[in-house]
Amino acid sequence: MNDTNIQDVPKIYGNLQRKSKEVGFNMPSDLYTGTLLKTLVSSKPSANILELGTGIGLSLSWMIDGMDEKSRLTTVDNDPKLTDIAKFNFGNDSRVDIICEDGEQWIDNYKDAKFDVIFADAWPGKYGQIDDVLDLLKTGGFYVVDDMSEQPNWPEGHQKNVDGLMAYLEKREDLVLTKLNWSTGIVIVVKK
Ligand SMILES: C[S@@+](CC[C@H](N)C(=O)[O-])C[C@H]1O[C@@H](n2cnc3c(N)ncnc32)[C@H](O)[C@@H]1O
Repeated sequence: MNDTNIQDVPKIYGNLQRKSKEVGFNMPSDLYTGTLLKTLVSSKPSANILELGTGIGLSLSWMIDGMDEKSRLTTVDNDPKLTDIAKFNFGNDSRVDIICEDGEQWIDNYKDAKFDVIFADAWPGKYGQIDDVLDLLKTGGFYVVDDMSEQPNWPEGHQKNVDGLMAYLEKREDLVLTKLNWSTGIVIVVKK
């Protein structure tokens, strides 16, 4: 298997990469995370999907490509520059709700339906409020995090955040998880 041979890259992906360079967005998730997210989203017809950390919409574009007509996706980011770009590119898709808000606040206030897939790609919901976010995951739903293997751009001391998250997930008896040496280090969690 040639694992660099990623198929079906979203049509808009090149534009998003160009925009990332233009605005200096330097925290993108990669093609490998994207293709995995699309696969997981595709496994859930009529899915309710949550992304914490929209960024410039790279992972969002993959998840949208995996959604069927009845699926819904909510994505949250606290940077209006980025959510404006996401709205420009995806705002016409009635299945997608792009929210500019602090993730911590959004998690605290959210009282609606639980999610089939959660991609936690910002501090809230990954290193903060993990209990609250896992409460929002349906039984059988996927919770996904990337950036779990040491990366050159990690801030000093970040390893202990990752270790803390892993220890927490491994301790919970209602979760099943697989650690993948894929992309930047992925963990896929399913709630029993
Ligand atoms: C790793 S990037 C997301 C990358 C994105 N998923 C992609 O595919 O390109 C993390 C994002 O989280 C956002 N963020 C950071 N702190 C946040 C917070 N407290 N609430 C909401 N979003 C936050 C940043 O603005 C940034 O866009």
